[in-house]
Amino acid sequence: MDDPRSVNRPSPSTSMSTSTSTSTSTSTSTSTSLQSFEKTFNRPPEVLADAGGRVNLIGEHTDYHEGYVLPAAIDLRTRVWGARRNDGILHIRSLRAEGEAQAEIRSLAPPGKGWQGYALGPIWALREEGVHVPGADILIDGNVPFGGGLSSSASLQVALTGLVLALAQEPDPAGANALRRAPMDVARLARKAENGFCGVPCGIMDQVASACGRAGHAILLDCRTLERIEVPVPAGWAIVVADSGVKHALGTSEYAKRQSECASGLEVLRQRHQGLGALRDVTLAMLEPWEGKMPDTVYRRLRHAVTENERVLQARSALESANADAIGKLLFASHESLAKDYEVSCPELDLLVDVAAHVPGVIGARLTGAGFGGNTVNLVQADRAESAAAGIVDGYARRTGKRTNAVVVKPSPGLSVQWL
Ligand code: GLA
Repeated sequence: MDDPRSVNRPSPSTSMSTSTSTSTSTSTSTSTSLQSFEKTFNRPPEVLADAGGRVNLIGEHTDYHEGYVLPAAIDLRTRVWGARRNDGILHIRSLRAEGEAQAEIRSLAPPGKGWQGYALGPIWALREEGVHVPGADILIDGNVPFGGGLSSSASLQVALTGLVLALAQEPDPAGANALRRAPMDVARLARKAENGFCGVPCGIMDQVASACGRAGHAILLDCRTLERIEVPVPAGWAIVVADSGVKHALGTSEYAKRQSECASGLEVLRQRHQGLGALRDVTLAMLEPWEGKMPDTVYRRLRHAVTENERVLQARSALESANADAIGKLLFASHESLAKDYEVSCPELDLLVDVAAHVPGVIGARLTGAGFGGNTVNLVQADRAESAAAGIVDGYARRTGKRTNAVVVKPSPGLSVQWL
C-alpha cells in the first residue's frame, strides 16, 4: 500500500505547485546519495537497486479478489544502496525520513512499525525463505511521494529485496546485472514482507508493477495465475498523475473491511454456486439475482469487483487499438464504481476527476491505488500533456481555491540491481 507515516489530512496547500515534469522531485542525485552513504557508513556501497513507483491505469481493488489489473511502473523511483557486513547486523538509514533501523537479522520478528518496519520486512521475508543474509549497511533514497497511492512502500520493499538478494550472493564484476531471480519472485517476496511483517493485507499488484515494469508499457496481470502481458501505451498518449493532497492512511481498517464485506457476499453466493472460489469467478449474471437479497452495501462491493474486472479486459483492447473514446469511458466508469459502489474515493479525488473531464486533451481520469486520498491517473493526449496537467491544476484551484500538483509520469522499467 503506501507509506506508514501517512495521515488522513490534506497537505499544506502552500507546498504544492504546478509541474509537468518529475525533475523537480525531492530525490537527491546519485552522487549525493553515494556521498551520503560514504559519510554515514565510512565506506562505499557495493550494490544499487532501483525500483519503480507505480500508477494503475485500471483494475482497482481487484488484485486481492484474484482478478485483473493494468498498472505500469513509473519514473518516480526508490533507490537503495548497500554494502555487506559480516556480523549479521542491519544498519538502515533513509535520506527521506528521520531515524534509523538497526537489527540483528536472526532476531527479526513482526510486527514492523513505521518506515523501519517497511525497511526490515524484506530482510525478514528473505530469511524466512532460507536466504542467508550476512548483514548490511543500507541507505534509502527516492522520489515516490509518500501516501500518494503511487506505491512508495511497495517500491521500497521491491528495491530492498533486490538489493539484499544481491548482497547474499558472491560479488559480480563491476556493473554486471546482479539480479539472479525472476522479478516476479522478487514481487512475491516483497508482498510477503508487507503482508507478514508490516501486517498490511495488500494484493500483489503494486509489487509486480514495481518489479516487472517495462518502458512504454502497462502490464495486464492476472492476479490468480500471475500471468502477465505487456501492453504498449500508445505513443500518442501520456499519463498525468494529479495529487488530491489527502494522504491516505496505511493498512487502514477500510481496506481490510472491503475484503471482509466481499468475503461475506461470496458466502451468500455460495448458497447457489457451491465451490465458488474467488470473486474473480463471479459474473454479473450470477450476481444480479441477489440484488435486494443481501445487504445493499455488500451487493455494491461485489458489483464493483465484477464490473471492474470486465473493464480491465476491455481497457486492454482499447489500449491495443488506441481507442481513446473507449478507454476514456472505462476510466470514468471505473472511478464512478469506486466512488459509489466500493466507496473508496473522497471529495478531493471526485473533484479532480470531474475537473479533468472538462480539460482539453484529457482522455479519461480516475483515482489510482487504494483510494481515500492520493492521486488520480489521467490518460491524456501526449502532445497536450503539459497543458492538460496545468489545466487540471488550474481547474482545481478555481473550484477550491487550493493549489495542487500534477505531473507527467512515464511507463518505465521495473527493478534493476547492479554491483557498483
Ligand atoms: C493498494 C494495494 C494493492 C491494491 C490497491 C487497490 O495499492 O497495495 O494491492 O489492492 O490498493 O487496487
